[in-house]
Amino acid sequence: MKRFLDLNDFTREEVLSLLELARRLEKQPEPRALAGKILGLVFFNPSLRTLASFQVGMARLGGTSFVINPGQGTWQLETRSGVTMDGVAAEHVREGIPVLASYCDALGIRAFADGKNLDEDLAESRFSLMAQLTDKPLINLESAMNHPCQALADWKTMDDLAVPRAGRFVLSWAWHPRALPLAVPAAAVHMAALRGMEVVVLRPEGFALPPAVMERARRAAAASGGSVRETTDREEALTGAQILYVKEWGATSPYGDSEADARLRAPLRDWCVREDWFGGAPDCRLMHCLPVRRNTAIADAVLDGPRSIVQREAYNRLPAQMAVLHQMLKA
Ligand code: CP
Repeated sequence: MKRFLDLNDFTREEVLSLLELARRLEKQPEPRALAGKILGLVFFNPSLRTLASFQVGMARLGGTSFVINPGQGTWQLETRSGVTMDGVAAEHVREGIPVLASYCDALGIRAFADGKNLDEDLAESRFSLMAQLTDKPLINLESAMNHPCQALADWKTMDDLAVPRAGRFVLSWAWHPRALPLAVPAAAVHMAALRGMEVVVLRPEGFALPPAVMERARRAAAASGGSVRETTDREEALTGAQILYVKEWGATSPYGDSEADARLRAPLRDWCVREDWFGGAPDCRLMHCLPVRRNTAIADAVLDGPRSIVQREAYNRLPAQMAVLHQMLKA
């Protein structure tokens, strides 16, 4: 494997094989597998899990890593093309990314959406530019519309808990004080569809996932025997659900308009997951990629209760990513 940028680049069987490798590495550690290998990690945006789990994963496989947070102890890096660089950025990624890539065996990059122009974000223009600047093995640590490492860990989490392949997976919008990117919901809906699940996207008006995201998930579902639909009806969506995957995201109609977004979300404070959401789904598990704001997106009682599997989900970032690194870098 040369690049891990999008779960959609892999067949269902290839994903299952990666998950098998993740389970094997959990049972049979390989502390010398990546001896001498170096992973460069470039974070244009904050992280807790991705940052820590990749560093730990490399160390557990015998390799090492370095971390760059552009503008924090390093030069600020410009990512836009064709601009006159008379602002804060002292260096362009056109120089910076190849330089960093030349120091390591694989590179991981996190670069969130600009959140202004939906077409540009759907095209992954910022991440794609950087991906084209190196032919080294590359990992998407979360881009404008994708978070494949999270998706792989989420799939493993459901397998660990024997969530039925054809079970109902409800991706629900949740309230947040401001618009957040679409990367996790887009990746989650595609992952569950590729797993073969009955996927229901539950969201208020104005927050539908972009048609291109839904279409991609539907294609994955068609190939895997699953299905994908959307609704605003919470009770109907959740009745019989096995998984409630909660995520906050910004308005898509309109997209990138913070005032319109604020107006749309103002009356939606009740989109905070409480225990009474689960009346028709007593065995439903709760997933969230974290970080999460307590009692805004999910109530304390649910996060701390027995249906929450958010800690396992976060832990699974480690074995899932170790499988990616192993397949990418082991000679
Ligand atoms: N879920 C996730 O990617 O967490 P971080 O943003 O903390 O890396």
